[in-house]
Amino acid sequence: MTVDYAGHPCDFDALRSLTAPRGIRIVDDAAHALGAASHGRPVGCAALADVTAFSFYATKNLTTGEAAPPSPTTRHWPSASGS
Ligand SMILES: Cc1ncc(COP(=O)(O)O)c(C=O)c1O
Repeated sequence: MTVDYAGHPCDFDALRSLTAPRGIRIVDDAAHALGAASHGRPVGCAALADVTAFSFYATKNLTTGEAAPPSPTTRHWPSASGS
């Protein structure tokens, strides 16, 4: 699990070079990074993490009071069976 701290996305290219060969999926906590991008790819897009969660808490970039939706662009939504 990764955390994009203070608006700075993680180095997903480096992380993917480690996780992809091993079949490990990346779950990204982007509570601090709504609107951020990594090399032109917006945080939440499937090229970065397999699952991305944002936060709409009152102290975050965009607030709705309370909510934390996963990214709609997630391409691999983990199932209970792990496939
Ligand atoms: C990095 C990070 N992840 C997750 C959360 C939790 O967000 P939420 O309260 O919307 O579930 C916070 C809240 O402060 C946070 O700073």
